[in-house]
Amino acid sequence: MTSLQQRVAVITGGARGFGKAFGHALADQGMKVILVDLDLAAARLTAAEIGPNAEAAAGDVSDEQAMHDLMQDIAKRYGGIDILINNAGIHSAEANKPIGELGTARTRRMFEVNIWGVIYCTLAARPFMAGREGAAIVNISSMAAYGSQMAYGVSKLAVRGLTVSFAHELGGDGIRVNALAPGLILTDTIRNELSPDVMAHVKGMQIVKRDGAEQDIVSAMLWLVSPGASFVTGETIRVSGGATLQV
Ligand SMILES: NC(=O)c1ccc[n+]([C@@H]2O[C@H](COP(=O)([O-])OP(=O)(O)OC[C@H]3O[C@@H](n4cnc5c(N)ncnc54)[C@H](O)[C@@H]3O)[C@@H](O)[C@H]2O)c1
Repeated sequence: MTSLQQRVAVITGGARGFGKAFGHALADQGMKVILVDLDLAAARLTAAEIGPNAEAAAGDVSDEQAMHDLMQDIAKRYGGIDILINNAGIHSAEANKPIGELGTARTRRMFEVNIWGVIYCTLAARPFMAGREGAAIVNISSMAAYGSQMAYGVSKLAVRGLTVSFAHELGGDGIRVNALAPGLILTDTIRNELSPDVMAHVKGMQIVKRDGAEQDIVSAMLWLVSPGASFVTGETIRVSGGATLQV
């Protein structure tokens, strides 16, 4: 890739929360960012806030054909895809229940978005990322993947597994695949949904006693997609203030 070509980043769930923060950070680095979200109106507002390097796209990551068509369209218009952030996910307080309690229909929907969404977007983007210098995928798992007995944690444990399997599978195409496992990060969704008791409980598990912030996850993402991490693939990095440390 020559320096004259603009690098292209696709961020799922890009309308708000981490996705929005990732969009700002990658656009600030001069990348073209495409914010894919179910909520097109919110994604458009975010893209307008970021500026000319950002654009919004409507899409449901659990729709295989739609993700195939979207990645193809992006690659056609911009020449390829360099970075994919598989960030879209269902993580409401409601999803944080045992499977029997959540029920099979809601569990299935969450698995479709949190697990199948990662699979569909990765496979759809792969041909347009293959062979591009510095091509990298970052999946967003969760601290809940470490020892959770809840449906949500199971979905995020699957994301850790997919990170290893896709690191092997896409390695021959020169695509690195890693994941981040955020701890409790005070996005708007978390502030609105989690009770102060639950927040205090998680904070009590942390070694670092301050609140987790979106910028903590952004910093780790920027490192994972940078040349500094070119020898790193298949890893899930916990960014949880030490709340999930285990040997
Ligand atoms: N905030 C935290 O503390 C925390 C901790 C660990 C992991 N995570 C994970 O980080 C990711 C982002 O979290 P957040 O707090 O920014 O979430 P958020 O709820 O603020 O934003 C998620 C975005 O994803 C979009 N989305 C949902 N389903 C979608 C679908 N099927 N297709 C396309 N877009 C869809 C939503 O419209 C929304 O804009 C999620 O995968 C979540 O599980 C968050």
